[in-house]
Amino acid sequence: MRPVQIKPGIYWVGVNDRFTQLFEGLWPIGEEGVSYNAYLLTDEKNVLIDLAKSIKVDEFIGQIEQIIPVSKLDYIVINHMEPDHTGILTILKKLAPGATILIGEKGMKMLKSFYQIEENVKTVKDLEELHIGEKILRFYYTPFVHWPETMMTYEVTQKVLFSCDGFGGYGALRGTLFDDECKDKDFYIKEMLRYYANIVATFSTPVLKAIEKLSSVPVQVIAPSHGLIWRENPKMVVDFYRTWAQYASSKAEKAVTLLYGSMYGNTERMMSSLLNGLSKTGIPVDVFNVTQTHVSYILASLWKNRGVIIGAPTYEGSLFPPMADVLHMANVKHIKFKTAAVFGSYGWSGGASKKIIEMVEPLKWQIVDTVDINGAPTNEDLQKIEELGYRFAKEIIEQP
Ligand code: FEO
Repeated sequence: MRPVQIKPGIYWVGVNDRFTQLFEGLWPIGEEGVSYNAYLLTDEKNVLIDLAKSIKVDEFIGQIEQIIPVSKLDYIVINHMEPDHTGILTILKKLAPGATILIGEKGMKMLKSFYQIEENVKTVKDLEELHIGEKILRFYYTPFVHWPETMMTYEVTQKVLFSCDGFGGYGALRGTLFDDECKDKDFYIKEMLRYYANIVATFSTPVLKAIEKLSSVPVQVIAPSHGLIWRENPKMVVDFYRTWAQYASSKAEKAVTLLYGSMYGNTERMMSSLLNGLSKTGIPVDVFNVTQTHVSYILASLWKNRGVIIGAPTYEGSLFPPMADVLHMANVKHIKFKTAAVFGSYGWSGGASKKIIEMVEPLKWQIVDTVDINGAPTNEDLQKIEELGYRFAKEIIEQP
């Protein structure tokens, strides 16, 4: 995409990444892609806010050069040091040697450790302002949205918030940059939730603090580092982020995530009967075979649903390993306050249910039902499991 003016003298000069398969080396984005949104502000001083990962360097520099020669940059604002925002910094410094890097106090040390840069760097303080001509930048420290040094930059006169990872999401830009021009907003909202669950969820308390800190700031445009720019309805993304952040400490949506794995089809048959029971109530259900779906997508569902049903066979006296991996990740991401049920099949000794209960105990999941079947489920078993599904859904629906 070519540069896009988002306000007079404020340009999007980012790049799309459709090459990287795993964001942070962990999370699949091969199909969805991601954008690294950078912003150029031209005035008496020229300012670049946020950069990109160290790919497509020619394209990135070319974006700036369509507006000004890159050597004319006066300031480079580093809102966040993670290399998806700073990867091209070393090259950019060589091309714009006169540019001063502006960074928060905690970023200084990282700048040295990641890039060995110490010269021509100025620390900005929380709420400090910088006049660059008619435009005024104000820096808001927003620690742990996503790393401790993270800040947001606000252009005061045109009310644009460059929010960095905050309010960002996966999904390369598909020809449109703004929410009001996008015909596929559901895709970006879905990918924003997955990004939240994968990248930001652990830091939900800092997210709520940042939203509170910025609550009295008049914002017309939210310009994050990843995904769409929100100018028609910036409040909508703030509301999404606030709602998701609150799920860290309270019950989430009245919906169910059904996780299962099956070695020879017995647990899978139980899962089908459970679905029969659940579906009688009309409750929304996301179903995942944990051996076939990457945990990145499962985390998004776990984060937003208050009900979780876990079905897995016993494997060598313990839990089917792919399910253990998912529950381990739920622990890493602090996915708490779920209502849960457990089921599965075993051959000679059980063990899966015990391990599941042990793994979710630190997460304060309330287990309301457990069913272990030896071998294949009988028709009577399946009937009971269907009833369990119905009971479970009712329990979720009737919760306050
Ligand atoms: Fe977009 Fe924390 O990186």
